[in-house]
Amino acid sequence: MATDDAMPARPMPRFPDGFLWGVSTSAHQIEGAAGLRGPSVWDAFTAEPGRVKDGSTADVACDHYHRYREDVALLADLGVDAYRFSVSWPRVDSRGGLDFYDRLVDEVCAAGVRPVPTLFHWDLPAGLDWLERDTAARFAEYVSVVAGRLGDRVGKWITLNEPAEHTLLGHALGVHAPGRKLLFDALPAAHHQLLAHGLAVRALRAAGATDVGIANSHGPTWPASGDPADREAAEFYDLLLNRMFADPVLTGRYPEGVGELMPGSPGEVAADLEIIGEPLDWYGVNYYAPTRVGAPQGAEIEFGGVTLPAELPFSVREIEGRPLTDFGWPVVPEGLTELLTGFRDRYGDRLPPVVITENGCSYEGLDDRDRIAYLDGHVRALHRAMEAGVDVRGYFVWSLLDNFEWAEGYARRFGLVHVDFTTLERTPKASYGWFRDLVRHGR
Ligand code: FCB
Repeated sequence: MATDDAMPARPMPRFPDGFLWGVSTSAHQIEGAAGLRGPSVWDAFTAEPGRVKDGSTADVACDHYHRYREDVALLADLGVDAYRFSVSWPRVDSRGGLDFYDRLVDEVCAAGVRPVPTLFHWDLPAGLDWLERDTAARFAEYVSVVAGRLGDRVGKWITLNEPAEHTLLGHALGVHAPGRKLLFDALPAAHHQLLAHGLAVRALRAAGATDVGIANSHGPTWPASGDPADREAAEFYDLLLNRMFADPVLTGRYPEGVGELMPGSPGEVAADLEIIGEPLDWYGVNYYAPTRVGAPQGAEIEFGGVTLPAELPFSVREIEGRPLTDFGWPVVPEGLTELLTGFRDRYGDRLPPVVITENGCSYEGLDDRDRIAYLDGHVRALHRAMEAGVDVRGYFVWSLLDNFEWAEGYARRFGLVHVDFTTLERTPKASYGWFRDLVRHGR
């Protein structure tokens, strides 16, 4: 692959020794259902007509279950330090399911790459429900089983992926599994996931883990104008997507007014927060773009493939003058600097070292210069945050492979490696060569 002319001309700033370069994937998006994977809420959701835009399913996806050796070889060639993947709870619940992760972890370690499993990336076993408190306890049991089996080779763990998106898209707006449209009645799903996170931290520590984090999605919220109604709406959105998930994890408290909305008596919620606020070794941030938010406009809004109902107390506005990815998401690298310095200012000493656990973009094509430009801009923006004093220890690109992009099906391609979903052939894109060079020079 001709990587040299794909390299942007400006030299990349130096990152500290030991900085972790990696790529991310998730089980449901790449593995396929082979090998007795039990059904998850996503299998049920996908089976309902009209739920996934191209009518596809994740039954085969990238068939990573059978082709994981080839995929690990791609990781090895890429030269990354770490591989973030997720463990599928319904697979672990199936006979022999853990054997797959055993083999995968062995293969990743043999390639000289650190395995970084996420223990929940949205594929809840069918029959379980985050509206039920008991699901948190069930999660902790499953986490103990996984840690008992893989803990001799896995050092770095991620409890949950993006409880905010899973609550919002899956339980409030109904565009992801399990497809509920509860709006603010979805909040118990957030609380129970956060509780599951805290219980999982304890379970991992009990199994000897010393390097535990979470992958929360965050982005700056920009008010549509200086108008007080717009500012208020933007603050509310920030509370919902950022603070409601970062505050309890980092400070053991919900933002003012939020705790009262959570299930349980004040005493019970306070006791849960003790668990949720269990100190972390690092904090994972998934960053894609900022959101521009204004006062409600009394009408439905189409935003990033999602229809936002008119009754929400905010409206999402277009960020103008920016290139857009194929998904329609604006490209705003400096939003990452703003986000990280803002977190440092907001949380101070409560913020442990940060790892960017996801960042990436969807574009078509093998000669994906747009993706190179996106990643290049974001890596530089990350470095600026580090120069401004934010302690960042790693950066993971979403994603190694093109994959099943949830309700968008196979229409959105986020991979450094192209996957032909008919033949399942993998072909590295130009960005793969670019990232390989970056990792090499970064060291
Ligand atoms: C994140 C998800 C990940 C992928 C990217 C594009 O919100 O964690 O699975 O879908 O977006």
